[in-house]
Amino acid sequence: MKIIMLGAPGAGKGTQAKKIAEKYEIPHVSTGDIFRANIKNGTELGMEAKKYMDAGALVPDELTVKILLDRVSQADCENGYVLDGFPRTIPQAEVLDKALSERGESIDYAIDVDVPDEAIVKRMGGRRACVTCGATYHIVNIPPKKEGICDQCGSELILRPDDEPATVQKRLDVYHEQTQPLIDFYQNKGVLHSVDGTRSMEEIFAEITALLG
Ligand code: AP5
Ligand code: MG
Repeated sequence: MKIIMLGAPGAGKGTQAKKIAEKYEIPHVSTGDIFRANIKNGTELGMEAKKYMDAGALVPDELTVKILLDRVSQADCENGYVLDGFPRTIPQAEVLDKALSERGESIDYAIDVDVPDEAIVKRMGGRRACVTCGATYHIVNIPPKKEGICDQCGSELILRPDDEPATVQKRLDVYHEQTQPLIDFYQNKGVLHSVDGTRSMEEIFAEITALLG
């Protein structure tokens, strides 16, 4: 089962993708998490990606596409995966489509988690992320058991540099301009499903599992 999560920054793609990955036993592949892990480890890729991420811009397609295609060709992705944060531009979607069709494969579901911009801005300031394992929390909605500490791995939680309010607005602008057109792209392929992302994470997940079976 190959699934793509679509939605604005902060819509809850990562939150739902992790739950899908766990239930259906497929890898959760987040290009944002891959970049953040590289930044943390000080790799060349990380240094390059950080310039764009901190500004709320997209990392260039050439860099992103290569990383993603390498990741999904690993053995654990053989039975499918849930992509979170990729594709983010029409050229990225076209490259993925081509790579899959060369193997006689295609995307089964593109799930758009729909949340209006006003709600997003409120959510982001409260998000806390673990740079070690990628877990995310919200100081009000989904708090960790111990303030500032990851429940899963015990590392420190941070406010992502790109969650500063001015950068969130920039990311939303970039989303509307470059990523939202993917909704029509996958609608035309007959695999798009929109879910109302303003409800509780459990309600959203129940709708997604009803869809995936
Ligand atoms: P990325 O890491 O993908 O960030 P994003 O798309 O901006 O999305 P987020 O991770 O911010 O939000 P999310 O939808 O996963 O929401 P979450 O579940 O955390 O990318 C970061 C950067 O990397 C990009 O800006 C770009 O520079 C670069 N990049 C990555 N991929 C790229 C690509 N393909 N091409 C080019 N550049 C790329 O939830 C948000 C918060 O809300 C959390 O606190 C959560 O706990 C809370 N929450 C979740 N669900 C609910 C709910 N139902 N109710 C209440 N609160 C909720
Ligand atoms: Mg995310």
